[in-house]
Amino acid sequence: MSKILAIESSCDETAVAITDNGKLLANVVSSQVAVHVKYGGVMPEIASRLHTENITVCLKEALDQSHLRLEDIDAFAVTRGPGLIGCLHVGMQAAKTLAMLFHKPLIPVHHLAGHIYANEYVGQFAFPLLCVVVSGGNTELVLMRGDLDFEIVGETKDDAVGECYDKVARVLGLPYPGGLPIDQHAKLGQHSYKLPEPLAGKGTLDFSYSGLKTSVINLVNSLKMKGEEVNVNDMARSFQDVAIGMILDKATKAALTYGVKQVVLAGGVSANSYLRAQMKQRLEGTGIDLIIPPLWCTTDNAAMIAKVAEHLYREKVFAPLTLGVDPNWRISDFRHFD
Ligand code: KG4
Repeated sequence: MSKILAIESSCDETAVAITDNGKLLANVVSSQVAVHVKYGGVMPEIASRLHTENITVCLKEALDQSHLRLEDIDAFAVTRGPGLIGCLHVGMQAAKTLAMLFHKPLIPVHHLAGHIYANEYVGQFAFPLLCVVVSGGNTELVLMRGDLDFEIVGETKDDAVGECYDKVARVLGLPYPGGLPIDQHAKLGQHSYKLPEPLAGKGTLDFSYSGLKTSVINLVNSLKMKGEEVNVNDMARSFQDVAIGMILDKATKAALTYGVKQVVLAGGVSANSYLRAQMKQRLEGTGIDLIIPPLWCTTDNAAMIAKVAEHLYREKVFAPLTLGVDPNWRISDFRHFD
């Protein structure tokens, strides 16, 4: 029997979840997106401050939803990284304080492991599996040969795909976060702008997005300077075809190379409608199964942190109260937190 309380505060969502033997009893998410939208991106200092204001409210609400008291909790889990350092500190401090007060284990969880394990709420993992981790801060292909066994087999050499979406949206005058607006405009456009495909066809499973981002920005600015109109739908479509196309190509290649049984999508960009539809198509006839996360799992939440924590609890992966955060924690190092 294990009742786990998990805290997530790595970026702009303050979240608390409680599980009882895998059953989700509470899942509270307080999003700051409405505050950051006017800055066109997350303002780290404001995000940290809002986490400190929201964390206790979320804790109280999660306890109310679960009809449990803090004394009933068996372990306190928290996102240790990657993320914004000031934001991570807020969740970490709360979790450490609770673990100390109630003499219960402290479980450090990797944020991306959370996004991956969120899929366990809708499907059962079959190993080996390939995780396509695509978010605002990360673009990684992660091979799992078993539970809690993560090997990065491909990753971005520069920007993350979600960051690229957000910057392209900004130059096109679309709101933040830019993923959904671009996804929607792309459906109405044609692939009429020629854009570069960095690291395509080079035999590597690594990604590069900064060249693509800069090309769109330069193209839009030069069209504007010439007084020519930018077709937002066409630009969104051209960009999305290339940005997601790289993920589809490399994920399919990795899945076949490593002979996986399953492909799992994870992270904010896994909400993308083109990625979801095309990944399914690419895997058709290969015998490889696909798990597509429900939309609530694609945004940050603490239910996914609790899911990883259950596995860590069984393996007794606990941290001392001297634990610090790690904004650049690599998923392959998730057992190392000294
Ligand atoms: O997982 P997440 O919250 O980021 C990190 O934790 O790093 O994902 C946020 C990212 C943003 O860049 C947002 O623009 C993108 O996910 N996103 C999308 C879509 N919905 C959200 N990108 C492409 N298509 C979407 N439909």
